[in-house]
Amino acid sequence: MSRTAASPTRLALRGDLLEVTADPGFGGVASSKVRFDADHWLLIEDGRIVGRSATAPDASWERHDHAGRLITPGFIDTHVHGPQIDMIASYGAELLEWLNTYTFPAERRHADPEVAAVGAATFLDALLAHGTTAAVVFPTVHKVSVDALFEAASQRGMRVISGKVLMDRHAPDFLRDDVDGAERDCTELIHRWHGRARLAYAVTPRFAPTSTPAQLDMSARLLQAHPGTYLQSHVAENRDEVQWVAELFPRSRSYLDVYRSHGLLTERTVLAHGLWLDDDDRELLADTGAQIAHSPSSNLFLGSGLLDWAKLQDAGAQVTMASDVGGGTSLSMLRTLAEAYKVQALQGVRLTAWKALYSATRGAARALHLGHEIGSLEPGTLADVAVWDWAVGPVATNRDRLARDLHERVFAWMMLGDERNLVSARVAGVERYRRSEARGP
Ligand code: GUN
Ligand code: ZN
Repeated sequence: MSRTAASPTRLALRGDLLEVTADPGFGGVASSKVRFDADHWLLIEDGRIVGRSATAPDASWERHDHAGRLITPGFIDTHVHGPQIDMIASYGAELLEWLNTYTFPAERRHADPEVAAVGAATFLDALLAHGTTAAVVFPTVHKVSVDALFEAASQRGMRVISGKVLMDRHAPDFLRDDVDGAERDCTELIHRWHGRARLAYAVTPRFAPTSTPAQLDMSARLLQAHPGTYLQSHVAENRDEVQWVAELFPRSRSYLDVYRSHGLLTERTVLAHGLWLDDDDRELLADTGAQIAHSPSSNLFLGSGLLDWAKLQDAGAQVTMASDVGGGTSLSMLRTLAEAYKVQALQGVRLTAWKALYSATRGAARALHLGHEIGSLEPGTLADVAVWDWAVGPVATNRDRLARDLHERVFAWMMLGDERNLVSARVAGVERYRRSEARGP
């Protein structure tokens, strides 16, 4: 049957469909929150998921047969620094020294529109090549880096939340802004990008030490003036940093309380790390709906500490999953989940594959108020999906073959897999990454 230009695009992807439908908590490996339909067809019309079928749909559907492969919602990375792919894996420093030695000089380069444009395209293509289809991103203080990122994201149809980094003190001259200029830049960027395509603006004070109280107040003004905007920052990552914040804000009860007192904790607030929090802080997170973007790879690499996820969960605070590249050493959310498992293991807590997967898909979507759009294989959501080999290489293949139940299989995929497992990534149904055929399992 020939299709006219006006007819809907109908796509069907065959594979093992896996999603986690609700927070499984820290319970056992048997979970009623897991939906697994082995060897089904995922049906997509005009970029949206419309259903699933055990049998092949008719020839009016463009069929892609991935039988024997895994199909999941695309991953959501809730905290990652695009320009930091330029200095990922930099040796031997804790946070504050690492920022000064490696990070700030790398971010400086993105003042150049050409560097910013190439960097944004490279970064987003890399996310897609790791199976990440949506992200909450730090660019740099330069307006041009925000324009470049949003432009590249809109070209790819991606869900990206981002905004100009704010730093008006304790930063090198070449990265420092000021309250009035930054407010003008942010307002202009919000008008240009917020709500356009699948983009949303995040007011982005880097972290409390690099913003004056006046700049934090300005951030809150932006949030109030522009409904639906997000707030992203860092909190309580490193002990020296926490001490510094206590000195800079002597009247605040805690690091997190600095953000509260400036009106920055909302249900659209995404705070990376949250390692050095107390019970009151955790309660504050739960009360405000602000989420912690857990960055285990970064926390290990920079020697920052271990997230007490169980206490956050008990308090009712939301935790989502983040690579935090370049503090993190991989854009792969599979590797990130594997690191998260080990971080919990060090504290005697078991992180099931279900809880881990939930936090990087549907849980993240819900925490970002985007559950209607991403994070699941539910009809009505956009078809941001990833197709994976269950196993790549002899060891993983052997392990996969010997797995006795679904959790064992998914857990081995999570612990042993990475971007080499990714076969295809689609954004709103459009294939944006496909592994070259030369490289199979
Ligand atoms: N705190 C302030 N800036 C940064 C950053 O770029 N990376 C990390 N990991 N922590 C930060
Ligand atoms: Zn970060």
